[in-house]
Amino acid sequence: MQANLHLDTHYAVGNIDPRIFGGFLEHLGRAVYGGIYDPGNPLSDAQGFRRDVLEMLQALNMPLIRYPGGNFVSGYDWTDGIGPRDKRPKRPDFAWKSIETNQFGTDEFMAWCQQLGSTPLMAVNLGTGSTAEAAALLEYCNLPRGTYWADLRASYGHADPYGVKLWCLGNEMDSDWQAGHVPADIYAQRAGQAAIMMKGLDPSIETVVCGSCAYWMSTYMRWDLTVLDYCWEYVDYISAHRYSQNRRGDSAWYLAEGVEIDRILTDYAALLNYVRAVKRSQKQVYLSFDEWNVWYKDVEQDGKGQVAPPLLEEIYNLEDALVCAQYLNSFLRHADVVKIACLAQIVNVIAPILTRPEGLLLQSIFYPFQYFSRYARGRSLMPVIECPTYEAGERGPVAVLDASASYNEETNSIAIFLVNRQQEGELPVTIALTDRTCQHILGVDVLGGGDVKAANSWEQPNRVKPMAGNAVLDDTGALQTIVPAPGLTIVRVQLAER
Ligand code: AHR
Repeated sequence: MQANLHLDTHYAVGNIDPRIFGGFLEHLGRAVYGGIYDPGNPLSDAQGFRRDVLEMLQALNMPLIRYPGGNFVSGYDWTDGIGPRDKRPKRPDFAWKSIETNQFGTDEFMAWCQQLGSTPLMAVNLGTGSTAEAAALLEYCNLPRGTYWADLRASYGHADPYGVKLWCLGNEMDSDWQAGHVPADIYAQRAGQAAIMMKGLDPSIETVVCGSCAYWMSTYMRWDLTVLDYCWEYVDYISAHRYSQNRRGDSAWYLAEGVEIDRILTDYAALLNYVRAVKRSQKQVYLSFDEWNVWYKDVEQDGKGQVAPPLLEEIYNLEDALVCAQYLNSFLRHADVVKIACLAQIVNVIAPILTRPEGLLLQSIFYPFQYFSRYARGRSLMPVIECPTYEAGERGPVAVLDASASYNEETNSIAIFLVNRQQEGELPVTIALTDRTCQHILGVDVLGGGDVKAANSWEQPNRVKPMAGNAVLDDTGALQTIVPAPGLTIVRVQLAER
């Protein structure tokens, strides 16, 4: 078996927006408390931020972090989480049936983002919260001193506005598990009004309106159409969410997950162009895929009234990591539509990093994200693939190779991301770059091969870890490499000057 990949640096899908490598932090389980924030722990700094967690998140190179939810935000009163800590109320959290202590709130999040080197993507509560409360949070975050909420921020020691540029208008509002869930037309009015008020206060911001929360929802696309029809002029992005699963235990089917991800992205591209055409609008709205990951093994959602209970502590294996790689391949192949994406989530809760008081563990999904976010820069190239197919259940015959590529004009280099979906039979790939000459290979990284269920654990933390791979330039100038079964190979190449 053999695959061919043809690339040409003239044939680009679009510029890669680095914000597709965002993350998501929710007040859920041990994500905040015991995850990123653990005052008193010797591994934490003076602000209570876990230094080891910050360091590993920095390695993921996430330019933005969505916060504070998720389902949590739809019942959250952000004013509970500001001011002197000893005055902050404890509240029951509707979404995860836990107790929220509010010891970590907006100001702590901004300080933590700064430490991380990321920017915030703030979500406002449009479930139980009002548009006025959403506008008040914007005033607290973004306005210079001279008005009530901005002065309050300054009085708490934050004289300068935070200048938060990106705002989510609620979360998953088409889901009946969402606090304050309403029909599409009512949400559309609420979100539109919130956006008008918020942009009125700070015209420099961009807003993300809630799209339907899943492909399997009956509201998929219908909700989105209603919402976009009403809000088109006031919003800049619409959200999409997906959690992949292999509940049936069929790895051949599961490893074809990229087919479904592509379908969703194609659906949104069509919808966004349709609404723009119907409105004869000069403006474009893009996609914010602000929750994506694998999630199906740890689905307990009842925190039983505890503070920071362990919830959604999913253990990730090799096949999950390869599904994550396919999300990233799909985002790159649809770089013209997807401008923001957030891995959900970042620590302990469905996360690449697990913590204990004495240390942390990197899960399999850490590595594909790390490599893509580090190397996929510049323009996304259209990958033309010739390869055999394999049977993936009702997903049909599916190409064994899933691929994407980026061309960085600044460094005159390309990065190629190759996923072999087969569980047996390593895949030799020949990569022909039609318009340029490869000068030398900068590096080859490989993840996988072997047991799809292999996972890292506290006892065996390095079972799934990338290794150096091989690639050669053959006599014709083409690149030859091998992708393990199943596995991910990333090849980086320095191009000769034109
Ligand atoms: O990320 C976990 C949850 O999944 C989020 O709170 C919600 O938005 C989604 O349903």
